Amino acid sequence: MDKVYIFDTTLRDGEQSPGASMTLNEKVRIASALEKMKVDVIEAGFAIASEGDFQSVKAVADMVKESQVCSLSRANKEDIERSAQALVNAAQPRIHTFIATSPIHMEMKLRMSPEAVLEQAVKAVKLARNFTDNVEFSPEDAGRSDIDFLCQIVEQTIAVGATTINLPDTVGYTFPAEFGNIFKQVIERVPNSHKAIFSAHCHNDLGLAVANSMAAIENGARQVECTINGLGERAGNTALEEIVMAIRTRQSFIQKKVDLDTTQLVPTSRLVAGITGFPVQPNKAIVGANAFAHESGIHQAGVLKSRETYEIMDAETVGWTSNRLVLGKHSGRAALKDRIEQLGYTIESDEQLNTLFHNFKALADRKHELYDDDLQALISGTDSDEMTGENAYQLVSLNVKLSFGNFSLCTD
Ligand code: KIV
Ligand code: ZN
Repeated sequence: MDKVYIFDTTLRDGEQSPGASMTLNEKVRIASALEKMKVDVIEAGFAIASEGDFQSVKAVADMVKESQVCSLSRANKEDIERSAQALVNAAQPRIHTFIATSPIHMEMKLRMSPEAVLEQAVKAVKLARNFTDNVEFSPEDAGRSDIDFLCQIVEQTIAVGATTINLPDTVGYTFPAEFGNIFKQVIERVPNSHKAIFSAHCHNDLGLAVANSMAAIENGARQVECTINGLGERAGNTALEEIVMAIRTRQSFIQKKVDLDTTQLVPTSRLVAGITGFPVQPNKAIVGANAFAHESGIHQAGVLKSRETYEIMDAETVGWTSNRLVLGKHSGRAALKDRIEQLGYTIESDEQLNTLFHNFKALADRKHELYDDDLQALISGTDSDEMTGENAYQLVSLNVKLSFGNFSLCTD
């Protein structure tokens, strides 16, 4: 079964999310988590971007041994040499060089002719090969590039030694069938395409990054570029946890595999969320707090009988301790009984369960989610009105103290 290589760019494209910059130490911690997860390639940064970026790429390259470490460079001598310097101690270095190939980028941004772009790309790959035999070339904005020109530049960069060809949907514009077709065409039409690994790099402007990456894989891509929690420029990149679990969960359907330790997905997601301050939405696939939570009674009863009724993955395989049956007003008797028994109580009779269930529903109508303490109070016979009703608590006094510099305000 073909392996799909996972190329993580949280530290480079992910860091390009406005507001998500990370310190050198934070990048090293994330790189270490990625290595532990066994990602194939870690893009550690853009070495020429600043002295800080250079030092971060170098620190990651010095530390990581099991994953390849990559540095991004525009297709010019200074960028490539700076990447090579940052990667000097890397156990498995990769230089990634790119230049835009779409008409709008060539005309408006680069102000270069296609011939000049082609020449510069070839020169850049040749130069990068002087430092390592692991060179990736990206025709930026491939999704909006002319297919004939794309084939031409891909053929010529492979001819001078590019070992990975990454086709980016830089602006998240393509549809899955369209993006898949770009891979199909380029791989079929470029005579030396078998000498490189093709890679997809998708942005999520239309919410299609994971779907587009899957379409690329179905049409010959063997590497996916992605980020933890889908971080990245604008609406972000393909979310690593989603693409990895899509491949793993539907492995027999797509006949591809990934070699990752998926139990590290949730801890790494939390680490990145904590460091960047970008929280994960509760309904986010795989790593969101609700991704394995069930509240409706019908679903809870199903999951208690057989997990597979409503779960296509086992929560523990992605790093959760277990699935979560959320007790609320939609929950049924089966979930309530199960939770009470987990808390160490025995329900003696159906009648006792009925009474508890009645009190539980009354409380659930007033509280959004019920916690173990609520259940314990119900079991020990505390009337739910006493817990939440008007006389449950009395506010005796409140003291507020605020201070700003020399000014302070105190009120009772
Ligand atoms: O989105 C993009 O095109 C990129 C390239 C530099 C690979 O991030
Ligand atoms: Zn990108």
